[in-house]
Amino acid sequence: MNPHKIAGALTQELFGKLFSAKYQLIPNLNDLYELELAFYEQQILSDSALIRNGAYFASVGGNFTRHFLMCTGKSLKLPEHSSSRLKSFFEKNLFRTGYSTHGLFPYRGKFHPQMIKGLMNMMGLTPGETVLDPMMGSGTVLVEAALMGIRSIGIDASPFCRFMTQTKLDALTMSLNRARNALKNYEVVFDYFAKRVGKPVVGAKTRGKKVFDGMMSVMEPVAEYVTNADRTHLTKKQKETSDTYNFLLLAYLDSVGYSERSSRKPPIEQFKAILERYLFVAEKIQKILDGSELEIAPAKAMEADARDVPLEDKTVDGIIFSPPYSFAIDYLHNDAFHLNYLGVETESLRNSMIGLRGKKLSEKFELYQEDMEKVLLECTRVLRPGRICTIIVGTNNNQLGKALGINPKDVQGIHEILIQMGEKHGLKLIKIMSRPIIGISNTMRFEYIIMLQRN
Ligand SMILES: C[S@@+](CC[C@H](N)C(=O)[O-])C[C@H]1O[C@@H](n2cnc3c(N)ncnc32)[C@H](O)[C@@H]1O
Repeated sequence: MNPHKIAGALTQELFGKLFSAKYQLIPNLNDLYELELAFYEQQILSDSALIRNGAYFASVGGNFTRHFLMCTGKSLKLPEHSSSRLKSFFEKNLFRTGYSTHGLFPYRGKFHPQMIKGLMNMMGLTPGETVLDPMMGSGTVLVEAALMGIRSIGIDASPFCRFMTQTKLDALTMSLNRARNALKNYEVVFDYFAKRVGKPVVGAKTRGKKVFDGMMSVMEPVAEYVTNADRTHLTKKQKETSDTYNFLLLAYLDSVGYSERSSRKPPIEQFKAILERYLFVAEKIQKILDGSELEIAPAKAMEADARDVPLEDKTVDGIIFSPPYSFAIDYLHNDAFHLNYLGVETESLRNSMIGLRGKKLSEKFELYQEDMEKVLLECTRVLRPGRICTIIVGTNNNQLGKALGINPKDVQGIHEILIQMGEKHGLKLIKIMSRPIIGISNTMRFEYIIMLQRN
């Protein structure tokens, strides 16, 4: 081989071929799909829009992007006993997940917020427009959109998701004085919740049925807004009380989850560590927001059914969501203790949860497809013509193969089924990308990002 050829090839910069020197990528960007998103983002956004809302750039023309500024500084404060593996995971994910209030509560199947930001840019969403997530889960889309100046509406069948999302949104702006005092008196707060909500059963894998007299049994009367979307009647003081109450309650439920899974720390110490982390996260993002002149866009989190979206026709500028991965994750089972703590009757919820209806696997799969078709019809109805619906979905071929009685290799992936359904209803595939799922790669290797444009 000609040595000059080798030297010549190696002096070339791959990134330099994609982006001119004025664009500096964010550190730790090492997955191919991330590079793809960065590329499209840079193609679609102006330089000033990249500085304001870009997800994958540290600086443009020497000016730091807001994303870079929002993520840098001290990373999340983890409990001291955390393993070095967990610590390095957070360091590595500083720009992906470890910023804003996204770290509050570890919800299964949660989006990478940075990816959501990049996708919203690719979808052409701009400040003042409206995005919908019809299966918002922990509200990643709403929190991210709020920071980007994009209005958002989120719905989820689970009241716990509504509570979690609302609390993460409120934590962006709420007064933290009372939560700081609560941390100083964490023993009292812990006792209060332990009496009112219930104590963690250390080492319990799942929580047995616990019957409360409805969600209000654990809510202060003033925190009624958790079940009632209209909060306009609250005075400033009442709002502060309910914001603090919900912030503490989420931290308590989070700590209960940890304590029930691991007995490494006494529950009360776990609660203290989690509350400290919540305060750190909220203080950090609030400080960043105070120092910038950008306003947070309105976000509305609702408890509703994605098969019957409570919105008028052609009213949203973009839709982005991730359906339950077929029936791979039983969200009700996972959230049983939180839902039970909130006094929600989980079994009656099961009927409206996509992927959980039906008994045998094959029946579940039939119903899953039926439900997802309804969701896609609703997405088409509420989306403005020409705008984009992005779906992020993984496929568990082994499980599907079992359900259909065929070889997993011959299974048609959920993403392919959704694309076909979309095309039937006026949503045209314009882009498909895949990304590897790390950690559970034995059963589900790839997650697909499909972008469908409304006719
Ligand atoms: C994969 S998770 C979404 C996670 C979310 N993207 C996040 O960042 O946290 C899917 C969600 O769909 C919700 N879901 C299931 N059936 C639903 C229905 N009929 N209507 C609305 N949401 C539903 C589940 O409660 C679950 O939170």
